[in-house]
Amino acid sequence: MQHPEFPDPLPEHVAIIMDGNGRWATERGMPRVRGHVAGVQSVREVTTECARLGIGSLTLYAFSVENWKRPSTEVRYLMRLLRVFLRRELATLMENGVRLRCIGRLQDLPAVVQSELQRTEERTRSNTGMVLRLALSYGGRSEIADALKAFGADVQAGRIDPSRVDEETLRAYLYDPETPDPDLIIRTAGEMRLSNFLLWQLSYAELFVSSIGWPEFKRAALHEAFRSFGSRHRKFGMVPEKASGPKERA
Ligand code: IPE
Ligand code: IPE
Ligand code: MG
Repeated sequence: MQHPEFPDPLPEHVAIIMDGNGRWATERGMPRVRGHVAGVQSVREVTTECARLGIGSLTLYAFSVENWKRPSTEVRYLMRLLRVFLRRELATLMENGVRLRCIGRLQDLPAVVQSELQRTEERTRSNTGMVLRLALSYGGRSEIADALKAFGADVQAGRIDPSRVDEETLRAYLYDPETPDPDLIIRTAGEMRLSNFLLWQLSYAELFVSSIGWPEFKRAALHEAFRSFGSRHRKFGMVPEKASGPKERA
């Protein structure tokens, strides 16, 4: 995907592990939750910028299955923030033609959050721009376990023949099979790990780790990640052919 402001193609699907909110706040002598509040501004700016540049899909890791183990006050605060975010951002999502989708064990979220998510998904369903995917109560391993459970039920009911399973069969059982795999995965705040994010889908994503904490990750930092992506040589396990140009993309 090309944009006149960038010399090289941009990723079609960007996934972000939004990390470092707590540290950002603690370093400033504030409670951790203030970092989450500050992070909302980055969500707005990064989402709007990705939509403007014509990115196809943006997946934001907002709450992992493991995050339920945090102190209940922080969890409650995050759930309330999510609800407020959905209410406040609807207008911006509509203005930018963004479609909201959610992935994760959504059934584990508080009922009020679930209904706000459904409402926002319905309202934005006929938008034609970027797909914004929020990963909530999400874990890569739980996604695969959920897929296996649904697959098992289909086998038992005789709807599928297990001897014909291939990679595409598994994909069809994942949370959102229509969205193509991420081309670029960004993690903020310097940590070099995946923390159970999109384990199946990240097989060939390019990695970019920024030392900037999420509350300070804005347009300029996003552009730096895109420029880095543009300089990568994706080979997908093959030997690049000299004649066909080195920067082969899916
Ligand atoms: C990321 O920031 C937001 C969530 C995981 C919800 P953190 O809260 O993990 O911030 P740090 O890593 O403790 O600094
Ligand atoms: C990953 O960040 C989850 C989200 C960004 C929502 P964490 O802060 O929870 O990950 P760890 O604990 O550093 O691996
Ligand atoms: Mg963290």
